[in-house]
Amino acid sequence: MTAVGIDAIEIWTGKLQLDLPNTFAPAKGEDPEKYTKGLGLETSSFPDTYEDIVTMGANAAKRLMDRRDLSPDDIGRIDVATESAFDNSKPVSTYIAGCLEQVYDGDFHHANKGERKFACVAGTQSIDDAYNWIRAGRNRGRAALVIATDTALYARGDPGEATQGAGAVAMLIDEDPSVVELSTEQGYGSADETDFLKPNQQFPSVDGKRSMQVYLARMREALEDFESVAWDTHPDDFEFIPFHTPFPGMVRKAGLLGYRHMIRGTDIEDDLEAEIGRQPRESEYDSWDAYEDAIRDYMDELKRTDRYRDWYGETIEPTLGLARRVGNWYTGSVHVARAASLKHAAEQGVDMTGKKLLVGSYGSGAQAEIHAETVRDGWADEVSALSIDDQLDRRYDLDFDEYETVHDAHNHDLDAEIEEFTQPDGEFVHTGWGRMNERKYDYVE
Ligand code: CAA
Repeated sequence: MTAVGIDAIEIWTGKLQLDLPNTFAPAKGEDPEKYTKGLGLETSSFPDTYEDIVTMGANAAKRLMDRRDLSPDDIGRIDVATESAFDNSKPVSTYIAGCLEQVYDGDFHHANKGERKFACVAGTQSIDDAYNWIRAGRNRGRAALVIATDTALYARGDPGEATQGAGAVAMLIDEDPSVVELSTEQGYGSADETDFLKPNQQFPSVDGKRSMQVYLARMREALEDFESVAWDTHPDDFEFIPFHTPFPGMVRKAGLLGYRHMIRGTDIEDDLEAEIGRQPRESEYDSWDAYEDAIRDYMDELKRTDRYRDWYGETIEPTLGLARRVGNWYTGSVHVARAASLKHAAEQGVDMTGKKLLVGSYGSGAQAEIHAETVRDGWADEVSALSIDDQLDRRYDLDFDEYETVHDAHNHDLDAEIEEFTQPDGEFVHTGWGRMNERKYDYVE
């Protein structure tokens, strides 16, 4: 069977940054280490006044098309995943296609376009749609352009405010891919949950603590479901495990839970027995609560072992390098984590070809999806072409008053007009609204 997967990746960050320990923490009267050590964040990316989900998505897509010398005829579908859409009918993909048609010869009239919604897992679902379209033989030799784009803003004062972010990831899904091949096997954990939602409102209603429990519960179900069709996973199977990363502290919890699950009944559990005992088994306890308490105690011990710390440092920590600097990009977040891990490997000179990733996506509401990926031999060239470090270094550093002003400028309920902080340079910009309240865009040379 021909391999299908991610052939190219490009990332576009919002052009402003909010420094969490040095700007946000003092303004909120909080200890900076709550953000750096607790949540695991240094800065978050913010959109400038002329940026939105369309400009960021179109800018990422243009970089990808330019780098791979693609024209509209090469693209058979454009799928946009977002939870920041501003229109209940017209999909963001049409706006992005309209932007790209301003700068390329030809058009995307032949391309199937859509918008995927299931909170942050929608980016992975869009990749799935593309994968299935190609596997079904309906692609006529064309590739799919998948764009995960979000302005992950919370109401000011919401506990989620510290985890905001804005950016887009564009991915080309194709046969014989250069970056990773996707496994056919997938696992799901999906349930009707009320943890994070936006019922016709711009900023989310969030039950933060519950959202973390739901993330872990659905992720665990997805791993068990994946193992039921793939194999019993072992920590040594995977070079990296990129997770959906609302903030790195969440992944710290997911990594520990996943490791505990994967080592059960393995040589690693045997090796650790003398140090921390064996994992509690449900049959040894009179009640579920007593069993859960024992598991919690075991995990507290497990996370202090060198064996676990070394594994976490090698397998999970490299996936968080970009998230620490950009915050939560919702639909793009897990794809940023994958890119961060491959970028780390390229910087360390690790040969990743043929190695495996386990990818854990999650969307509130709630659904987790887990699949494996096998790294392909073009990965290093693709990852080395990313300009994300330069983009991050060039961001305008907001002071707290500026942050509040630009937050208001992006608030759909306010009419706050402010000057931009940066100058557009070879990119799409939002210029205003048309007669039917549609958004208008131009390309600025
Ligand atoms: N030094 C070191 N650590 C500190 C600290 C300090 N001075 N002060 C606090 N901390 C630690 C806390 O102990 C805590 O860590 P643990 O959870 O490991 O104990 C961490 O910093 C955060 O502190 P709080 O729990 O007090 O923070 P909070 O209540 O203000 O908010 C939050 C945390 C609930 C996650 C909030 O940021 C939030 O609501 N975020 C949005 C929802 C979210 O991201 N949920 C994640 C799962 S849902 C999902 O993944 C989908 C999605 O993208 C939204």
